[in-house]
Amino acid sequence: MKPITESPAQQFVRSLTTALATIRLYDANHPQVVNLCRQAMDQLRQQFLDTDNVTLKIINDKLVFQDVRLTDNLSVERLLRAMHAHDLSFIMLDARVGLEDLVQMAEKLSRDSRQVTAQPLLPNDTIVYGNVAIRRPAQKAAPSAASDFQAVADENLDKFMDIYSSIGHGKKIHATGLGEIVQQFVSVFHDQQNVMLALAPIRSMDEYLYTHSTNICLLNLAQARLLGIDGQMLNDIGIAAMLHDAGKMFIPAEVLNKQGKLDDREWELMRSHPRLGAQYLLNCPGIPRLAVVTAYEHHIGYDGTGYPVSFRKLNPCSYMTSISDIYDALRTRRTYKEPLSFDQIKSIMSDSAGKALHPHLTHSFLTALSKLEQ
Ligand SMILES: [Fe+2]
Ligand SMILES: [Fe+2]
Repeated sequence: MKPITESPAQQFVRSLTTALATIRLYDANHPQVVNLCRQAMDQLRQQFLDTDNVTLKIINDKLVFQDVRLTDNLSVERLLRAMHAHDLSFIMLDARVGLEDLVQMAEKLSRDSRQVTAQPLLPNDTIVYGNVAIRRPAQKAAPSAASDFQAVADENLDKFMDIYSSIGHGKKIHATGLGEIVQQFVSVFHDQQNVMLALAPIRSMDEYLYTHSTNICLLNLAQARLLGIDGQMLNDIGIAAMLHDAGKMFIPAEVLNKQGKLDDREWELMRSHPRLGAQYLLNCPGIPRLAVVTAYEHHIGYDGTGYPVSFRKLNPCSYMTSISDIYDALRTRRTYKEPLSFDQIKSIMSDSAGKALHPHLTHSFLTALSKLEQ
């Protein structure tokens, strides 16, 4: 999943912010934290070949590594947020910095802003923290459920990308990590209005599968709540949504990311992702059976059209996932210059109700969305 074009500086930020997220989930002694900081150290060492120290600084709200402005992505945003929370304008790392120092730094940065006053960041021999003279203005609005969703999504990006990266490498994944992400979504789940507001904008291609999977998860949870589903079943529906496109990790990147039309062979490959995903998930311990079924069925239409071929009634979660999938695809359609309006999306989906999409589930989904639009 990691883009090969990422610079060592960008990789350093990604490893560091994944370490921060892991510390928040577990603690600084978790082996994964040390692994991630070791990766960050390796990336730093490449910088130290030319210089005795490197500086990460914030200039005009952008992150600058040495003198190079880093491309905005979720990791960069997360580090910016952590630095802002600690009122830091720069962090300077000396070439003598060791793994332990880096773990300590990650641990300090992972504390939220409420803890900062009690334990301010202090310089040590190898890391210098620069404080900004002027504090950032206080948060204008109280955090909403939508921003909570976004925060959960942001916090879990690297974790999810690690899981998807494991899929791509043919390693078995375990449901625990994903279950925790979905559990966090469910715990900030208030009503469908907030869910719709929380839908993530498309970011870079390497994060697309994550934002798409997160969106499908939120939309499926909203649909399930409309049906009164709760408890373990709600969690399983969320996990199934997060993994519905797992099979895409087995499709060559040049086919998956192709901008133009797919030729017959490429299209055939794309159409194999439900089968490949289901086959893969079937052999993973702890993955709910619902996720296997949903991965296999999410492109089969209510009327039996679509792919792969199926002759039986589909699982309701597959119907819900098709609805969420089509809604997200229309909402984020990038071939159109102008995004489709809600009325256009509604009309396209209403036309498909009873054909490719389940009629009742589609109507209740669109009715819930229409209320929001009003
Ligand atoms: Fe799919
Ligand atoms: Fe999808």
